[in-house]
Amino acid sequence: MALYAIGDLHLGLSVNKPMDVFGPGWDNHVERLCRAFAQLDDDDVTVLCGDTSWAIDFAQSLADFRLIDSFPGKKIILKGNHDYWWNTAAKMKRFFSDNGLTTLDILHNNCHFYGDYALCGTRGWFYEEEQTGHNEKVFNREVIRLEASLKAAAGRPILAFLHYPPLYTGYRCPEIIQKLEEYGVARCCYGHLHGPTHKRAIEGKVGMVDYSLVSADYLGFVPKKILD
Ligand SMILES: [Fe+2]
Ligand SMILES: [Fe+2]
Repeated sequence: MALYAIGDLHLGLSVNKPMDVFGPGWDNHVERLCRAFAQLDDDDVTVLCGDTSWAIDFAQSLADFRLIDSFPGKKIILKGNHDYWWNTAAKMKRFFSDNGLTTLDILHNNCHFYGDYALCGTRGWFYEEEQTGHNEKVFNREVIRLEASLKAAAGRPILAFLHYPPLYTGYRCPEIIQKLEEYGVARCCYGHLHGPTHKRAIEGKVGMVDYSLVSADYLGFVPKKILD
């Protein structure tokens, strides 16, 4: 039994989406993901850190989720900025159960437990992404979501998973970092950074938190082992 994390699968089995927009290195990315996931065991758990599917609704996403469901172990999914198929937790769970997708679950205003650890997280926030100025309301909602998830840990040691990086070279999101530190988060995995932006990623301990970039192209499309 082991815990893994990987973000940004960017599947689009029902959508024709060229992946070279994220730079070279995305050739055969679905086949490479399939090969890597085939090495996992049925009792493993993988957190998928957002940007899972290009689909814009449940119908379009089904082929992608059937593929993910076929991979060994449980998959816990959080939201990325490209997950337009995302819906309420109740509707997503209903969609999974109606389609016999038995290994999928959602990380959204809640947490999951893995041994003694709580797995917490949310999409997060990224100032640099904003085209239309800072949206205080959406930002505050993300901080509240993160805190709801961290509170659900109920005192257990926390591993946090975000889509957006809370920090990278030349960038900090102090409100998100402050929440991670306040709740004693030991480790934080994040995605979203692709291609040329990998070189700005921050890995390792900053303040009290150990950060890891887990976007799929950064990991060579192989899920990163977080815990045994
Ligand atoms: Fe993203
Ligand atoms: Fe992405």
